Amino acid sequence: MCGIVGILGNHEAAPNLVAALKRLEYRGYDSAGIATVNAGVLDRRRAVGKLANLNDTLVHDPLAGKTGIGHTRWATHGAPTIANAHPHQAQDVAVVHNGIIENFRELRAELAAAGIACQTETDTETVALFTQLHMDKGLSPVEAAFATITKLQGAFALAFLFQGQDDLILAARMGPPLAIGHGDGEMFIGSDAIALASLTDRITYLEDGDRAVVTRAGVEIRDAKGTLVNRPIRRIEIDASHVDKAGHKHFMAKEIAEQPAVLANTLKHYLTDGGEILLPDPGIDFTAFDRVTMVACGTAFYACMTAKYWFERIARLPVEIDVASEYRYREPPIPGRTLALFVSQSGETADTLAALRYCDGKAERIVSVVNVPESSIARESDLVLPIHAGVEVGVASTKAFTCQLTVLLMLALKAAHARGEIDGTSLANHVDALRGLPALMHLGIGQSPQIQATARKLSEARDILFLGRGIMYPLALEGALKLKEISYIHAEAYASGELKHGPIALIDKHVPVVVMAPNDALFDKTVSNMQEVMARKGKVVLISDAKGLDDAGDGVWDQVEMPACPDVIAPILYAVPAQLLAYHTAVAKGTDVDQPRNLAKSVTVE
Ligand code: G6P
Repeated sequence: MCGIVGILGNHEAAPNLVAALKRLEYRGYDSAGIATVNAGVLDRRRAVGKLANLNDTLVHDPLAGKTGIGHTRWATHGAPTIANAHPHQAQDVAVVHNGIIENFRELRAELAAAGIACQTETDTETVALFTQLHMDKGLSPVEAAFATITKLQGAFALAFLFQGQDDLILAARMGPPLAIGHGDGEMFIGSDAIALASLTDRITYLEDGDRAVVTRAGVEIRDAKGTLVNRPIRRIEIDASHVDKAGHKHFMAKEIAEQPAVLANTLKHYLTDGGEILLPDPGIDFTAFDRVTMVACGTAFYACMTAKYWFERIARLPVEIDVASEYRYREPPIPGRTLALFVSQSGETADTLAALRYCDGKAERIVSVVNVPESSIARESDLVLPIHAGVEVGVASTKAFTCQLTVLLMLALKAAHARGEIDGTSLANHVDALRGLPALMHLGIGQSPQIQATARKLSEARDILFLGRGIMYPLALEGALKLKEISYIHAEAYASGELKHGPIALIDKHVPVVVMAPNDALFDKTVSNMQEVMARKGKVVLISDAKGLDDAGDGVWDQVEMPACPDVIAPILYAVPAQLLAYHTAVAKGTDVDQPRNLAKSVTVE
């Protein structure tokens, strides 16, 4: 995982390195560090914990120099300690790394045989040590770094900085993305363009196998075979403005609250005044496909799972879904006429990107639904459908989820209409339902005080179950995921019909059971399952509309009232109470809501 940056600047590098790392904190935040070269002298500062700690360190122990590299870490090899924090230094070279060096044990053994001992538990240190070893044998810094890279197996985005070299950073990419930023007499390196947003808008993306020699005069890129290559400079549009909490206590609270406005914006990008659903050029001809394969991770996967119900029920298109970390390893056959759809907020999730590459050349068409249009997944897709959620800072995804759902529902409706499964009137009704969503969400968010009271009670539980049926089942899964991510309470979700096949054994008076049940066609069946829970003294929290609560609310432990809504949009609306329950429970427990322990917003390693 981790984020890396590099600066060959005309001003002091440290403040800009830290600011760029701040933008990369979504990749990890368990330690951070920077290294600079100042008048030829290579030096570094590192700190455990969030970037604020590195900032403190730099206040007491500043680091001068206009050339530097930086890193924010999500530990893979070795605990988050100062020793394991990047940059890793071996005398005259410092290295920052995003990825995993899979053959690091062999490399360590080779180093040991040469009498060189590793000082850290990381895989990355071997890169610094080998580069130093090569320099000791007389290779130049560039030759030494390149010789080291040829020894590496696994995934890496690397940046190297050298003692005595004020005008040189080397960068290499195999797997994780790496962007080179072009300034005026300055050059930059970043894990993504967002990291460099306040420094430049001119970006070159390295391709797999590329090695770049970066100086203030520009960049020279060679591919894996050593051939000089020209990679285009793109001018990108990224809002460099500081994202703030707008008066909320946490980014997550802000991102939940802004969903009505954000969703209205998403709809505006896809719906014409006449109620037509417009896709970016060249669109999708849904009559050309017999099936859809959807792949994603985490919350984005639950968006796919929800969309499966829409595509199959409304558009009569069979849908296969899988989590990206499993997908390519089961080597699924991909018949012709398959539309492959990848959903990712960040567009950088390593497994989702790898699944996309697995489908490349096999599926008829590769489409991605992303929040970051400049991301790797977007760049490698045939068609990109942006969700227009704006920057999402909270590690637990909220507004991106509801925007993903909204785009996927519009896609399913478009498919249904194109395939003749619904007529114009039915399409118009569904579109009307979508247009009504922001107002309904606003009402849902208005239930926050009630949900907060419920959450206070939930915060005392050790285990919580979530139940849903039909299209509310993925929502139950999302509710449980959200809760465990940020409150650290063990939560599981089941399709309520499955309760009797095992999970009912868990029910006793200590286990709250959250039932997500709008008053839809499956309501009575869900209520029967809920009664089975109550008969075993389970404490039911029923989330439904006024009619549902009226019909079935007797005897429940607690309830949350949602506005009545058309069935088709219920999963999007009911995401709100799921998010608020998790949020208020986490606040009641005093956890770090926006940056929960052990997690990262974007998982850029396998
Ligand atoms: C991490 C995040 C989740 C997110 C998942 C997929 O686990 O914590 O919130 O849903 O990655 O990320 P993506 O950027 O691909 O949607």
